Amino acid sequence: MADLFAGKRLINQKNESVDGGDALRGKKIIALYFSAMWCGSCRQFTPKLKRFYETLKAAGKEIEVVLVSRDREEEDLLEYLEHGGDWLAIPFGDDRIQEYLKKYEVPTIPAFKLINDAGDLLHDARADVTERGKDDAVAVFDEWVEKYPAN
Ligand SMILES: *[C@@H]1O[C@H](CO)[C@@H](O)[C@H](O)[C@H]1NC(C)=O
Repeated sequence: MADLFAGKRLINQKNESVDGGDALRGKKIIALYFSAMWCGSCRQFTPKLKRFYETLKAAGKEIEVVLVSRDREEEDLLEYLEHGGDWLAIPFGDDRIQEYLKKYEVPTIPAFKLINDAGDLLHDARADVTERGKDDAVAVFDEWVEKYPAN
């Protein structure tokens, strides 16, 4: 049970509403991706994360990423979501964006954090993706599942 997201609305790349509990149920790894279209270092990280995510999905790995966008316009959020992997996002203007920036202590973006389904922070995972995501995606995922399971 993805408690943190149960009954909470997320959106997909088409701006369709998705129930967070359904979308994250059974995922072994849940990650929050704090990012924004205006952020230059995010533009460098996003393609790496997209390739990593797509490699894992193709390998049948149970991972989901939720974008927590600091974009100031809804159009920017949606466009950035489209440019990323086929992951989900907290809708524009949702109070959870500010809440999560505080709760997970995100002074700067991009930040990529593994959490469990109760919402506890497990691991700051940006460096793993940057350093090993290209060549060792499945090994990185398997290590995460061992050390930082979502449930
Ligand atoms: C996205 O979906 C929301 C909620 O359904 C809607 O209010 C908004 O206008 C949509 N935005 C775009 C750009 O389609």
